[in-house]
Amino acid sequence: MRIDILTLFPGMFSGPFDESIIKRAIDAGLVSINLHNIRDWADGKHQVADDYVYGGGPGMVMKPEPIFAATEAVLEMAPERGPIVLMTPAGRKFDHELTVELAAEERLIILSGRYEGFDARVHEHLATHEVSIGDYVLSGGELPAMVLVDAVVRQLPGALGSPDSVEDESFSHGLLEAPHYTRPPEFRGWEVPAVLLSGHHAEVDKWRRRQNLLLTAQRRPDLLERFSLSKEEKEWLSEKLDEAF
Ligand SMILES: C[S@@+](CC[C@H](N)C(=O)[O-])C[C@H]1O[C@@H](n2cnc3c(N)ncnc32)[C@H](O)[C@@H]1O
Repeated sequence: MRIDILTLFPGMFSGPFDESIIKRAIDAGLVSINLHNIRDWADGKHQVADDYVYGGGPGMVMKPEPIFAATEAVLEMAPERGPIVLMTPAGRKFDHELTVELAAEERLIILSGRYEGFDARVHEHLATHEVSIGDYVLSGGELPAMVLVDAVVRQLPGALGSPDSVEDESFSHGLLEAPHYTRPPEFRGWEVPAVLLSGHHAEVDKWRRRQNLLLTAQRRPDLLERFSLSKEEKEWLSEKLDEAF
């Protein structure tokens, strides 16, 4: 996969992209991440990329010309085509489903905003997707772009040590993930559930599945509504939830 990120602050990406899973995925040739400074396509001595808001109001808006010019030039840098994703609080809420959808693409171009955001014509005539990472406003699209790239890259086959990791995680099967334990078996009097030490794989799977259900019912009942449970699981869950209250 090829990812191109258009930003006014390319320096912000060093660090997160130079460590751990993303770095390994880059080194293994699973993904290439290319940073482009929008200002390089802004005209004039000062390469100004923003301007005042028509109709009045506070703040500045990112001008359309440099964004269109940068995106068109970046598109020509490689033959692959794919979504042009604009980061905005007004976009589709980023979630597991969208992560998997984007991870299947050969290429992503990500537009990262600043100030009051982009001129509306960028939204209407350039972006193919508008994505929000949550109902709050950050100072710029760089952190949202990093969140999106991290989630997408870990979905690429080979990016994680074990291919199972990505399949067992929260949301991948529609549920939150069961709690994990590691050694020691007892810490300050708190014991690891005996079933996990039993070596009995079927029992461990059953325990995990039930913990997934319980945690999801307690914390994200909205997810459970879309999930079909066996009669036995329903009974077990309602007993557990009754116990909790
Ligand atoms: C200060 S914000 C602009 C907020 C905009 N005036 C509004 O009220 O919706 C500047 C840039 O940060 C990015 N941004 C901020 N919060 C975001 C979020 N929750 N999801 C995605 N991008 C976000 C966008 O690229 C946006 O153009």
